[in-house]
Amino acid sequence: MKRLDDFRLRLGRHELVPIVIGGMGVDISSADLALEAARLGGIGHISDAMIKTVSDRRYKTKYVKAKQAMYQYNVASIDKSAVKFDLGDLAEATRLHVEHTMARKTGSGLVFINCMEKLTMNAPKETLAIRLGAALDAGIDGITLAAGLHLGSFALIEQHPRFRDAKLGVIVSSLRALQLFLKKNARLNRLPDYVVVEGPLAGGHLGFGMDWAEHDLATIVAEIRRYLVQEQLDIPLIPAGGIFTGSDAVRFMEAGAAAVQVATRFTVTRECGLPDEIKQEYFKADADDIEVNQISPTGYPMRMIKASPGIGDGIRPNCEAYGYLLDANGKCAYITAWNREVAAHPGAKRVSVPDKTCLCTHMRNFAIWTCGQNAWRLKDTSLKRADGSWQLLGTEHVFNDYRFSTDERIALPEPEAAAT
Ligand SMILES: Cc1cc2nc3c(=O)[nH]c(=O)nc-3n(C[C@H](O)[C@H](O)[C@H](O)COP(=O)(O)O)c2cc1C
Repeated sequence: MKRLDDFRLRLGRHELVPIVIGGMGVDISSADLALEAARLGGIGHISDAMIKTVSDRRYKTKYVKAKQAMYQYNVASIDKSAVKFDLGDLAEATRLHVEHTMARKTGSGLVFINCMEKLTMNAPKETLAIRLGAALDAGIDGITLAAGLHLGSFALIEQHPRFRDAKLGVIVSSLRALQLFLKKNARLNRLPDYVVVEGPLAGGHLGFGMDWAEHDLATIVAEIRRYLVQEQLDIPLIPAGGIFTGSDAVRFMEAGAAAVQVATRFTVTRECGLPDEIKQEYFKADADDIEVNQISPTGYPMRMIKASPGIGDGIRPNCEAYGYLLDANGKCAYITAWNREVAAHPGAKRVSVPDKTCLCTHMRNFAIWTCGQNAWRLKDTSLKRADGSWQLLGTEHVFNDYRFSTDERIALPEPEAAAT
């Protein structure tokens, strides 16, 4: 009976334990979580989502306050096109986060950064180029291009001295998306170093429509694999979404995967960036407490726990402080929905917006609890305390459970010493 540890992921000169902890914005896949994965010989991700507020929280900078003060005059306006990101600050915040993380790295594994194209930031190309370039400058081992097609992202950094030596990967949810990426980037003579194939059971945004349940990760991986073999392209494939046990992972490895990307099981670890009380909400969730909805202004369906306080909330759009989802014309679907509700309820102190959410504010405040479809099984991975709460897990414990378990088993943690 094989274990995940019987396999290795080869990326250039690196030989890695084939476990990738996926990026989870905003700072849910914290530096501590990513560094544990690297220490244990796998790959961890930090995320560059809302990096300025992450930097303020972690490194005591004041980027958000400064931006808010600069655009205070615009708060009451529905036109947010004036609200721009200072590109120098953006580069500095990215550098801070990456440098602080990489300075603490130990072990033989790698730390990558997850970069979501859908954070269009009122200047999609300019801000993306800065984010990618600054992460490379600051010594990140690799970049995973996520949420969006990223057809032009390689070109944005083709002049960077690390363009050919840093590991660069893409996340796709279909063969067609990968084909488009490869076609668009053919002239650069630089293939992705790995392809994460994210299926319909993943957390975060989905690369599917509301018909997600009709798709199946194993089928998509097999289709992409056949295509790569046929084209004689040797690119490691990394399936993601719903891989909950070491045995699930081994099935993918035996079908030709190079590694697996996992996330949900790490949301209840001590190193995960979610506040501890919210980790308890993840433990508590039952299968029918989890939904895929369309409230994200990105336009992509997103999976979340129905009790997330950000669902249906009608907070005033906070673009002057954040504004990560403003498109190239300074628009965001939440602003449109919020204005509609305000117009429909004149004089109301606070409106409710059922169909969209202010994702920046709520992800920043951990008020949208996104999770994978299997989050309801998290309670099977830990022990209940006498007060009804669940024990948090060590990242090392969960990592090693994926690595060494067989027969669909999930190793439980040692019971905590009772508090005195
Ligand atoms: C809380 C949470 C936040 C996530 N945020 C992101 C993100 O910011 N960018 C991204 O590309 N994927 C994100 N994901 C997807 C994961 O990186 C990963 O590919 C997927 O969840 C793996 O499936 P699993 O959670 O069933 O193991 C997120 C997942 C979770 C659970």
